[in-house]
Amino acid sequence: LNRRMFLQGSAALGGAFTLGAGLAARAGAAPDPQILTARFAEAQIAAGGVTPRVMTYDPGDPASTAMPPVLRMRKGEPFAARLVNRLDEPTTVHWHGLRIANAMDGVPEMTQPYVYPGDGFDYLFTPPDAGTFWYHPHCNTLMQMGSGLTGVIVVENPEDPSFDSEIVLNLRDWRLGASGEFIAPFKPRDAARGGTYGTVRTANWQREPVYDAPAGGLVRVRIAATDVTRIYTIGLEGAEARVIALDGNPVEIPFALDRLDLGPGQRVDLALRMPQSEGQHARLGNFRGSSPWTIAAFRAVGTSLKRELGDIAPLPPNPVAEADISTAKRIPIDLTATAEHEPAASICGSLGYTFWAINKVPWPGDTPDPVAPIEELKFGKSYVLEIANRTPHAHPIHLHGLSFRILASNRRSVLPPPTDTILLLPDEQAQLALVADNPGDWVFHCHIIEHQKTGMSAYFRVA
Ligand code: C2O
Ligand code: CU
Repeated sequence: LNRRMFLQGSAALGGAFTLGAGLAARAGAAPDPQILTARFAEAQIAAGGVTPRVMTYDPGDPASTAMPPVLRMRKGEPFAARLVNRLDEPTTVHWHGLRIANAMDGVPEMTQPYVYPGDGFDYLFTPPDAGTFWYHPHCNTLMQMGSGLTGVIVVENPEDPSFDSEIVLNLRDWRLGASGEFIAPFKPRDAARGGTYGTVRTANWQREPVYDAPAGGLVRVRIAATDVTRIYTIGLEGAEARVIALDGNPVEIPFALDRLDLGPGQRVDLALRMPQSEGQHARLGNFRGSSPWTIAAFRAVGTSLKRELGDIAPLPPNPVAEADISTAKRIPIDLTATAEHEPAASICGSLGYTFWAINKVPWPGDTPDPVAPIEELKFGKSYVLEIANRTPHAHPIHLHGLSFRILASNRRSVLPPPTDTILLLPDEQAQLALVADNPGDWVFHCHIIEHQKTGMSAYFRVA
């Protein structure tokens, strides 16, 4: 079947729903779908005025605010979502960090057709891992994510320890002018460096929100860095916290939060003990750069519950397979800056520039356009990606569909649990071990979206 013809055919259906890969039929009784209507909205984000034409996912819940909803699912249980496109351009949903079937991965032209305005797409999958994840489009992503389409996913595990309260934080910036209007989404000279920063910084679409939580209580704070550019260095003042999970996976031995780097796409779960007295505040801040600022604050309410951080047992691990290093094939991956290639035709919107490459090939767009994968991986086999960042910038490198473990690095001594996104530091060389246990085509790209869309993208094929 000719791919382009198929896509035109799908566009002609107008309002029909495409069911991915017949999975619902196989799963038997599918759960009721979570409605996600991608649409335009207005929101008060900047101090100076309402922003027209933000993009959001509307869950069809009259009580919801403009922000995309926090999606709650359960480890090992099927979850269904119906994307309805009420934007004026094609879109899809990618479930960042969920190791689900390739047909549900949301990459247009690679794992599914475009979802055109007026059309929909039914997603159905079973998340194998518990933790904090997120979702966003994989089409014209600088515009669509920059305009608002980034939401948090919580995959619950009934065996997790219980907390007195839970706070979910979606951290992101906005490129807005003084009266709240969108300004140019990027500057080419910044795209060729660390990326273009937003002008308004928010948590849950609010500037420095304050959340109430029980005094002396234990709070699970789930933080997702969903900005298209910003790398955070988070820290806490006025309370103590332990890091209990990174990028969805539990840390084996929880450790005290001091300063923690969080790149675009990454998540952290904290166990936070609230201050003891009513009215006291704890502050979550960004300590990167020379002038720290407050991301969000937590205000103690009620009489102290007098809980201790040690009351919380470590989270149960996720079923991520350990690679067999003795048999693993090694794959060199070089990240470089480039100016040698003209921008190629791109799927879902080109920025019109090429600044970056993976193994010398720049692949602009949200889907790599040349059809060859960077490497074909044999299903079930172990691999070690020997990745080298040959640039003076940090790159949060994300792999779809598979989790990997950082085996070694020339820039870090403490190695995190398995992850889907490594914040590769300038000149870092690291070994990433994985088992190719999920068949399909899996995109591998920088999550600074300007880097992704000006060449730093590729994919692996697992077959
Ligand atoms: Cu968070 Cu290719 O994506
Ligand atoms: Cu990058």
